[in-house]
Amino acid sequence: MTAGIKDKIVVVTGASSGLGEATARLLSTEGATVVLGVRRVDRLRTLAKELETRGGRALALTTDVSQREQVKALLDTAVQTYGRVDVMINNAGLMPQAPLERLKVDEWDRMIDVNLKGVLYGIAAVLPHMQRQKSGHIINVSSVAGHKVGPGFAVYAATKFAVRALSEGLRQEVKPYNIRTTVISPGAVATELPDSVTDPATSKPIRTFYDQVAVPADSFARAVAFAMSQPEDLDINEILYRPTKQEV
Ligand SMILES: NC(=O)c1ccc[n+]([C@@H]2O[C@H](COP(=O)([O-])OP(=O)(O)OC[C@H]3O[C@@H](n4cnc5c(N)ncnc54)[C@H](OP(=O)(O)O)[C@@H]3O)[C@@H](O)[C@H]2O)c1
Repeated sequence: MTAGIKDKIVVVTGASSGLGEATARLLSTEGATVVLGVRRVDRLRTLAKELETRGGRALALTTDVSQREQVKALLDTAVQTYGRVDVMINNAGLMPQAPLERLKVDEWDRMIDVNLKGVLYGIAAVLPHMQRQKSGHIINVSSVAGHKVGPGFAVYAATKFAVRALSEGLRQEVKPYNIRTTVISPGAVATELPDSVTDPATSKPIRTFYDQVAVPADSFARAVAFAMSQPEDLDINEILYRPTKQEV
């Protein structure tokens, strides 16, 4: 078991696939209790059952992170059930990339609602608990696209730049409460994320790019485990990683 993970109560949004699912699996194996929130709760229930069969503790709750009261209910249920929350991983997100001139305004709204407001709602839901506990760790998921912008992913990048900005503000503000903050910015990771691209001209090159360079989702889970397993007086604030093959 890795120090700093065993017996921790960890809430993960977006755990029905990809980075969130891989993280739930790794942390559960390392002895954490995982509380998982997504919209496709059937997938989560199967995952939670599997983790329990292997000796872990897991709770699956229907949560749409764009609905503030649902995110609050996820955190409140975690605390009511297990007595506290140690780590909040604001991971849920989508990436329907397309050039701005396609005017996919509904997708812009959705990315802002999930990738940005969903993270804010996660912070709003967990902060009162962690302030009361005078301990905790908030992990937000940005992206290489939170460091670099290019044609076709302006809005996605805008949400991920924003996640980095608010994570840095959060880091400075929560010092009095002994709360750690980490923002993780992955490069291309093989998940269902490219499925959210609806623009046919954008979808094909993204799939080719992912097929050529993407690394498995446990890369992210290991980054989470690294940040969590540091001594309590050490706060890993930023992790940026890419597949070795990824140039951008
Ligand atoms: N894969 C990459 O290359 C990569 C790189 C950098 C950053 N990221 C970031 O990593 C995070 C996870 O993405 P992923 O790659 O693991 O993609 P994924 O496999 O598509 O997983 C996305 C997860 O988010 C959940 N989700 C989507 N909308 C939601 C909502 N409104 N409320 C609650 N959950 C919601 C999905 O579950 P439901 O559909 O069941 O709700 C799913 O579990 C995202 O923030 C993404 O931007 C990914």
